Order: sequence, then structure tokens, then C-alpha cells
Amino acid sequence: MEKRSSTKTKSTIFFIFGGTGDLTKRKIIPALYNLFLDRWMPKNFVIIGVSLDEMDDKKYKAELMSAVDQFSRKGKSKKEEWTKFSSHVTYQIADINDLSTFKPLGAIIERYKEEWEETPSIIYYCAVAPHFFGAIAENISQNKLENDPQTTRIIVEKPFGRDLESAKELNNKLLSIFNENQIYRIDHYLGKEVVQNIMAFRFANEIMEPLWNRNHVEHVQISVTEQIGIGDRGEYFDHAGVLRDMIQNHLLQLICIIAMEPPISFDADEVRNRKVDVLKAMRKSLPEEIDTMSVRGQYSSGWIKGTQVLGYREEENVNPESNTETYAALKFYVDNWRWQGVPFYLRTGKRLIKTASMITIQFKEVPHKIFISEKSGTPKQNRLVISIQPDMAIRFQLQSKRPGLEMYLDTVDILFDYSGSKRLDSPKAYETLLLDAINGDQTLFMRADQVEAAWELIMPILNYWEKNIDPDFPNYSVNSWGPEKAEALIAKDGFHWFNLPDKTKKTNERAENLEDSD
Ligand code: BG6
Repeated sequence: MEKRSSTKTKSTIFFIFGGTGDLTKRKIIPALYNLFLDRWMPKNFVIIGVSLDEMDDKKYKAELMSAVDQFSRKGKSKKEEWTKFSSHVTYQIADINDLSTFKPLGAIIERYKEEWEETPSIIYYCAVAPHFFGAIAENISQNKLENDPQTTRIIVEKPFGRDLESAKELNNKLLSIFNENQIYRIDHYLGKEVVQNIMAFRFANEIMEPLWNRNHVEHVQISVTEQIGIGDRGEYFDHAGVLRDMIQNHLLQLICIIAMEPPISFDADEVRNRKVDVLKAMRKSLPEEIDTMSVRGQYSSGWIKGTQVLGYREEENVNPESNTETYAALKFYVDNWRWQGVPFYLRTGKRLIKTASMITIQFKEVPHKIFISEKSGTPKQNRLVISIQPDMAIRFQLQSKRPGLEMYLDTVDILFDYSGSKRLDSPKAYETLLLDAINGDQTLFMRADQVEAAWELIMPILNYWEKNIDPDFPNYSVNSWGPEKAEALIAKDGFHWFNLPDKTKKTNERAENLEDSD
């Protein structure tokens, strides 16, 4: 199947519930605007912001323009371009809790059908808190706004449920109104440029597949560290924690892409089938194993660049005795032929020393070492390092002879770096995902069984952590690499966490730095 082709896209009516909210302003509108500037939007389209606020079109457009100016990767909008784009934008007041206020949406659809003289695609984007998803779906159904399954789609944001049971309930609710092929569950990590490239890297290169298994891979690390704290999301986060907020979705999806079997085609269901296989093959922890397979953390106050920052328990809308984790490190096994015995380590946390999302695949040692004298240096194992952000690069680390009269080995990088013009041109994840939704391509969206399999996997840990308060909380300081126990989790297997090389150093030094920076 041809993906994201520039073939003429169908006319589209795009409703955004939560039209005045943060997500709409930070992500959705800047993404749609950039798609418009890059000529990916269909000739006929209309964006209807739907919300409770009293507002006219003029004020709504002004708010969106200032959001674009602030958040678009292309910088401030230009007057002429914005005027053209905003002629496709309108505002509609409606209350999700009041069925009757959805009635005008039907009239809007009819009006555009007549004007465009065709049946447009209709996209309902739920950019609201998850407990509204069901009500929105119900209102769409009651008002008969979803009558053509070929052209109507609903996009729902994460978090998709707060545990397995609620995710199932939500799936059942949505599936009682829509078909699975109408439901687009977002995990924005799947839209990131480098994440998409992993598929190309794995399945469009002959040399990868023979190495990509337990015979050659020693272990895999997936690390998403963030410097930011929880900001003003205390209320949400204190009921979530990083296990729900990051691991259940983003990090597990990354594992799926690394560990999946080659799909027979790039068809949405084929790709998603292979990903679900990974989640099903991942070993679930028994309660008595959880303390040895996982580490949780919570940040205490500390200093960042001369400024004192609050500890987690002092943050706004957080319980001062909270047991919620702001850091998690986990070890998993994927029980299948390809990965038997290969540990996969995951870590993520807030208020850490560095913001970096990266995947490291460490290959085994050479079977027989011939460069063993002190004069040869210390040969290192090969590594494939996939930097997702803020650096966007894929680097292969190899051993090579340092030029000179002696046989001295250095680590060198074969580097595919996205920096420079390619990086600037890279679309943001939301641009990719919204265009796919407009084109009806579900490959990068989560299917019901994927979401449920991911919840199933983490439920034992969630339950255990909720029942057993961690007496050591808070157990790491802001601006650190997280709790010490997380080092022990991986050190007891003979490994250590890899960190991103420092961009300012030269290639060889950077390669060394990857190992030495923790
Ligand atoms: C979101 C989480 O899904 O992803 C946030 O709710 C997190 O807590 C964010 O900060 C990270 O996304 P990104 O794209 O900045 O890595």
C-alpha cells in the first residue's frame, strides 16, 4: 500500500472536541496549519473547533493564530498564508453533556456536502479528557452523525483507560458505535520521524535481519528521560504515574517496533498484528518477581542551573504523601524464538538530568578475541544507537584500527544524522498522524487489542505498586539520573545504562562518551 502519497485527498470535515484546549492549540492546529502550508491538505476542508466557551469565529481564529505563532515548527505565521488557512476554520459551541447541542453538527455536515457536491470524510477528534470519549461517541451516534463507516472516523487521545478494565470498557463503548477501522487511537511516539525510520532501517536493509536476534544481540535498552517535571498536570499525573503515562504506551510501542517479526506487507493490520505478537510474547511478572524486575522512583526537590525546583510531593495538585512514581526502570523478556534470553531494559522519568529518547541495541562480544594486548586498547562490543530526540540519528558503533604504526583499536561511529536541513524539514509527529487519519491509514494508530495487550502486561506491576507503598519515596533528586536502585537493576546483569553522546565532542570521543557518561 502506498503511504502518505500526494494523491488527491478527499474533502474533509474536521471536528475538534476540546477546540479551545491546550492540545488543540499546541499540537493539532499547528500540525494542520503546516500540512496546509506544505500542500498536503485537501482542496476542500473545514476545521470546526467545538467547545463550551462563548466565542465567535473571529476571536477563535485570533486565539489559534497566536498558538500557531508560538508552537509551530515553522515559526510565526505569515499574514497571507494564515488568512487563507483560517478561511477554513470555524467555531461551534456545544456541550458534551447535552445531547441537543450536537444537533447543529448535522446541519454543518449537510451544508458542506451540498457546497462541495460530494460526500466528505468526517473526522471527530476527541481532544478532551478521556472520561468524555464515551459521551462524545454516544452523542455522535444519537444525532446520527456517523452513518457512513467508509468516511467517518474518530480520533482519541491517550490515556486510553487507566487500567485493563477501563480500557476494555472504552473499547466496548467505541466499538458499539464505530467499526475498528473508524477508530484512530493516538500514540504520538509512533509519528516521530526516527521511530518510523526504524521500520525502514530494519526491513529495507538485507544486512539487518541476520543480526537481529538472540544469536547476536546481547541486550536492548529503551530510555526516555525528561528534564521537565509534571508542570501544571499534577491532578492528572498523580492518578497516573509514568507506568501509565509513558510505559503502557510509548515505551511498549518502541519495544514492539524493535522486537516485531518482519510483516509480510506494510498494510496497517499486518504491521499491527506483528506488534501485538510482541506484546503477547512479553513475559508478565509474577508479584514475587516485581521487586527484582523493576524499580520505581519519585523526585525530591533540588537545584537546576542555580534555581531551586520543587520535589514531586510539593507540586500543585499532588498529594503530599503521594506514592505515585515519576520514574520507572523495568526489565522484560520476549519469550519467542527470536528473543529468548535477551533482556530488554526500559527506563523513563521526569526531572532527570537530560532529555533524551534513545534505543540501544548492544551486540554480543566477538566469539574469540585476538586483540588482547594492552597496546590494542579495549575493544568494545558493537552497538546500534537510535536517537529519537532531541538528537535524531542512527549510529552503528564499530571497532577500527587507529591510523598509525600500532594496532590500536578505537570505537568509530557510522552515523546517519538528521541534523541540518533534513532535521528542519522533518514533520512533527502530529502532522504525520493527522495526515494519516485524513487519508484513512491506520498503520501508526493503536488497535483495540494492542491497547489491551499493553495494559495486560503492566497490570501486575501497577497493582503491586499501588498496594505496596514505597517507603523510600522520594528517592532521587531532580537533575540526577534517577534512583540508585535503577543502576543496580541493570548492573546485576553486568550492564549499565547508556546515555547520549555529547554532540559537541568529536566522533571518536563521542563514541567513547556513550559508554562512559553514566
Ligand atoms: C506524553 C506524556 O504522552 O508524552 C508526557 O503524557 C510526556 O508526560 C510526553 O512528557 C513526552 O512526549 P515527547 O514527545 O515530548 O517525548
